[in-house]
Amino acid sequence: MGVIIAPSILSADFAGLGEEVADVERGGADWLHVDVMDGHFVPNITFGPPVVASLRRVTDLFLDVHLMIERPLRYAEAFIEAGADLISFHVEAADDPREVIARVRARGRKAAMVLKPATPLEALAPYLDELDMVLLMTVNPGFGGQAFIREVLPKISELRRRMGPEFPIQVDGGVNAETVVEAAAAGANVIVAGSAVFRESDRAAVIERLRRSAEAAFVSRPE
Ligand code: DX5
Ligand code: ZN
Repeated sequence: MGVIIAPSILSADFAGLGEEVADVERGGADWLHVDVMDGHFVPNITFGPPVVASLRRVTDLFLDVHLMIERPLRYAEAFIEAGADLISFHVEAADDPREVIARVRARGRKAAMVLKPATPLEALAPYLDELDMVLLMTVNPGFGGQAFIREVLPKISELRRRMGPEFPIQVDGGVNAETVVEAAAAGANVIVAGSAVFRESDRAAVIERLRRSAEAAFVSRPE
């Protein structure tokens, strides 16, 4: 698997969301990262299944739905119904992770779990064998435009060592042309970028730059 670039629409202009999505799709994005926030698990509110359903109608991009919500089990199927290709949910959220994973996979979609920066990898240990991807947050979830937390880098390398060279490890938060190099060198191969992509007018150029930097820096077997 090569590096995957997933622009996060959190930093897009919501009044012209269809055009924003078309722009990054034309610009070479591999996935679309969709941040769902409930005002409870995180101190911010974004959107729910109807927005995912609308996105599904206007794009062929793989829809990577990042649930920053309590009780993901209650909502996972609604997001799948709406057209999500992958559901990621937080280990810190209240629910039975095994049940969430089982329901997502029973519908033929990919299941991922997410760790906040301060949560240790051990929290994931019981579920690793059942996951299609792990997302290691490099900011505290809730808002776009925050600074990349470098203390997460050793956790990325440790997970890469444990999971082997091919496993999808996603980073999300504060990723830009500089920090992507550090994340990929630690072993991340699925790159989310929100403000770094959407604040620039030439999205194709940013996506291409992120991809080249990540591919050049990616280390599949960190020491
Ligand atoms: C933050 C979200 C991110 C956000 C990243 O809670 O999960 O996906 O969009 O935004 P940037 O890339 O601006 O840090
Ligand atoms: Zn996200």
